[in-house]
Amino acid sequence: MRAVTRRRFLGVLGGAALAAAGCGAFRETSGQLLSSELALPRPFTVPLPIPEVARPAGPGRYEVTQRAAEVEIIPGTATEVWGYGGTFPGPTFDLRRGSGVTITVRNRLSVPTSTHLHGGVTPPGSDGYPTDLVQAAGQKDYHYPLEQRAATLWYHDHRMDHTAPQVWLGLAGFVLVRDAEEDALPLPGGERELPLMICDRAFGADGSFRYPSPPGVHETHGGHAASVHGDYMEGVEGDVILVNGAPWPVAEVTATRYRLRLLNASNARRYRLRLAPGGRFTQIGSDAGLLAAPVAHDTIPMSPGERYDVVVDFSAYPVGSAVTLVNTLADGSARNVMRFVVARRAADDSAVPAVLSRPPGRRPPVTTRTFDFRRSETAWTINGHPYRPGVPLARPHLGTAEIWRLTSDFHHPVHVHLAHFLVLARNGRPPAATDVGWKDTVDVRPYEVVDVLARFDGYRGRYLLHCHNLEHEDMAMMADFEVI
Ligand code: C2O
Ligand code: CU
Ligand code: CU
Repeated sequence: MRAVTRRRFLGVLGGAALAAAGCGAFRETSGQLLSSELALPRPFTVPLPIPEVARPAGPGRYEVTQRAAEVEIIPGTATEVWGYGGTFPGPTFDLRRGSGVTITVRNRLSVPTSTHLHGGVTPPGSDGYPTDLVQAAGQKDYHYPLEQRAATLWYHDHRMDHTAPQVWLGLAGFVLVRDAEEDALPLPGGERELPLMICDRAFGADGSFRYPSPPGVHETHGGHAASVHGDYMEGVEGDVILVNGAPWPVAEVTATRYRLRLLNASNARRYRLRLAPGGRFTQIGSDAGLLAAPVAHDTIPMSPGERYDVVVDFSAYPVGSAVTLVNTLADGSARNVMRFVVARRAADDSAVPAVLSRPPGRRPPVTTRTFDFRRSETAWTINGHPYRPGVPLARPHLGTAEIWRLTSDFHHPVHVHLAHFLVLARNGRPPAATDVGWKDTVDVRPYEVVDVLARFDGYRGRYLLHCHNLEHEDMAMMADFEVI
């Protein structure tokens, strides 16, 4: 570890300790900014793309090929992406609850991959375990029963030690699960339902994605082949914000309600989203599905991996208005996210009903376990250990619930595979309004103690919990648990 890193890191700890002491002066982001080396477009000039919806190859069957492709992200410049279907984001899989699908993933990249459906209730053999690799030129059938509520899920690469650079290159996309409960609601749909994958990137002078070390090239780091080290151990941030793969895009909307399925697919960047010049988000869903009732927010904090399903009513703005989605945690180029331009009035028969759904209830917890997320000299650890594949830290019983107490020394977005959870408390106090609903990823901030109630439903077998800051993940902040 280089001295400069150590100094920066201790600086963060000092700030966090101040915040814990009630001074409120802690840094709200983690990660090291990587700047672009080419001229960037003016914000709000590139139209918002919507990822293609994947078409089945047969009943219940899809095929998708991971491959390199040249795409135009910065106007007039070619960027090589590694994408599912050669696109970034990859195709959206628009699927129904309980209608299981098999997705054949073909790997035509030069490196191994492992595909994980984030938020999926998936059997262990298809869950994208980090060492369950699809080698270059190989393929694998992933089986997704999708016995779960309507929700915004996403899929991405999960290769051991290399997730961060491989997702940075584009290996991510949406899976939307729909069900009858949701169909019965008058929510905005069709062109008024926008999946928005938000992430940051940096570009080299030749238009390529800049990253501290190219994928496949790695250094051994405390026994782990980490993709980055030293200055970037906190995480990698870029100076360009992409939404659905476009830099600071603009979308023309009618003066009606829109459903925005927000996803933070960044490696390390945290956001606090706000509408400028003002306005409210009506949250209708969390990571794992629809809420019982809508909740209004002025701002939405999003750590990597989290999703917020919200409705924005653009009839609240005069026709001709520009409504900008900004990230109040960032300064400079990364402060802007995207813009909506309210082009004209239109009929709107949508509504946000006062009762949205009947989410599963709580089950009494059978035990409490603590997972401590902390930095060691050479890696990021859980309960004092860098990742040890095959060594489960917990063995919950199928059909039970447990309280998992998550403690941390830093910003760690904690994600649990398979199990969905409710946030019960932050530092012994009630959770934030934006913690509402069943989730699979929770923003744990420096020196916080976050209690969640996790339900273990679906399948027995080996699963993961980990930090979703992808550089932390690659630097060993993962652990197995086994559902028995
Ligand atoms: Cu989105 Cu284990 O990851
Ligand atoms: Cu996951
Ligand atoms: Cu972390």
